[in-house]
Parts: sequence; structure tokens; C-alpha cells
Amino acid sequence: MLANYISRSLQSVRNGVRAIATSTVQNSDNLFVHRDTPEDNPDVPFEFTAENKKRVDAILSIYPEGHKRGALIPLLDLAQRQYGWLPISAMHKVAEILGLPNMRVYEVATFYTMFMRKPTGKYHIQVCTTTPCWLRGSDDILDTCKQKTLGIGVGETTKDMKFTISEVECLGACVNAPMIAINDDYYEDLTSKDMEEILADCKADRVPRAGPRNGRFASEPKGNPTSLTEEPKGPGFGLQAGL
Ligand code: FES
Repeated sequence: MLANYISRSLQSVRNGVRAIATSTVQNSDNLFVHRDTPEDNPDVPFEFTAENKKRVDAILSIYPEGHKRGALIPLLDLAQRQYGWLPISAMHKVAEILGLPNMRVYEVATFYTMFMRKPTGKYHIQVCTTTPCWLRGSDDILDTCKQKTLGIGVGETTKDMKFTISEVECLGACVNAPMIAINDDYYEDLTSKDMEEILADCKADRVPRAGPRNGRFASEPKGNPTSLTEEPKGPGFGLQAGL
């Protein structure tokens, strides 16, 4: 059997074909390789606003001398909040402030999916489609965003630069599945109708109500509690009398 496998592998190598099964290609709507474009190249000016310069100083003051590079992610986040996404010139500015090689900044900015490397809509809709959300209907939620309301696909932005849709992995709110995040806020326990309402609010630049949409306050059981329903026993419960 082993001889068979080796012979098949050698044959495959001779044919220039890999013998071992490969996983499927994963596509992402994030940009991990930089290519100069008119809106994203090192010549596009980027400077922190006067207000944000004060924030930069405040952030840097948290980190001791010799460890200022710890401020890298907060500064990238600040740049992205100011610009709406993260152009290469903003990364260079952060590298300059921290005295880091540009490459150190690229490594971080392209690793974390929270950093948007291409122009992004005012409302960045991140639809969680990982298993718990999927089992609870995230396909319908995504479909409502894509076809029914916005007419764009995953990774795309509406022409008016108002909405971008991303499909994301678990955002840590599975107990409130299905859920989405829009910018910094979570919208949970959603139905397609809720999604339509949320998008209508955003279109009108009204702030939609964040949190669960099915009457829950947070992640408590819907209805009455199903566990820990008795009065807690006092201290010492279950200890031997001799103790
Ligand atoms: S699976 Fe959607 S938040 Fe965890």
C-alpha cells in the first residue's frame, strides 16, 4: 500500500501535479496586496487633523519609552476613523510617528480584517455567516442586504459611498444569532424585516437602535430562566460537618 502511494506520488511529481489534496481556494473581500491606484498611493497626502494629533499624543503617552510601537494598532484605528479607510499614505504616517519601518505597519494593517484597505462606505455592514448565525438564518440577512435593499454584493460599495457589505467570521455574539455589525455597533437576533428597517434608518442617516431585536435586553434567555432558578445555598453548603 505504501509502495503504491509512493509510486503514485512520484508519478504525480513527474507529471507536475500535486499528489496531496489541497483545500479549496478562499476568497476574501479584503485587499492584502498593495497596488498603487489613483486613490491609494504614497503621494496621496495624509495628515492627522489637529484634534486627532492631540489624540495621537494621548495614545502615545500611555506607552513607556522604548515601547511606543505598542500604539501601532490604536494609531491605525485613529487614521482609519479619520479617513474612512486606510490608505498607504496613512500607514506611512503612522510608521513615521512611531519610528518603525513601513513594512512593520503593512504587516499589522493587512493581518487584521478590521483595517479596510480600500475605500469603504459610511456604513460598513459586516454580516456574520459562521455556523451559529448561519443556522439561525444569516443567509436571509445577507440576501436582504445584497439584493433586496442595496443591490450590491459582498465586498462591494454602493455608488454613493454609503454602504459596504462584508461577510465576516464569528463576531462573538453567537447567543444573539443571527447578528451583524455596522461600524462599531452590533445588531442582534435579526430577521429580514429587522434588517430592512436598519438599512432604511441608515439610508436616512438615522441611528438605528443597536442590540437585540427580539425583545431581549442582552443575552438572557427569552422567556423565563431555565437554569439556576433556585435560591442560592449559603456559604459552606456541601461542606462536611467536621469542617
Ligand atoms: S457565529 Fe455569528 S456571532 Fe458567533
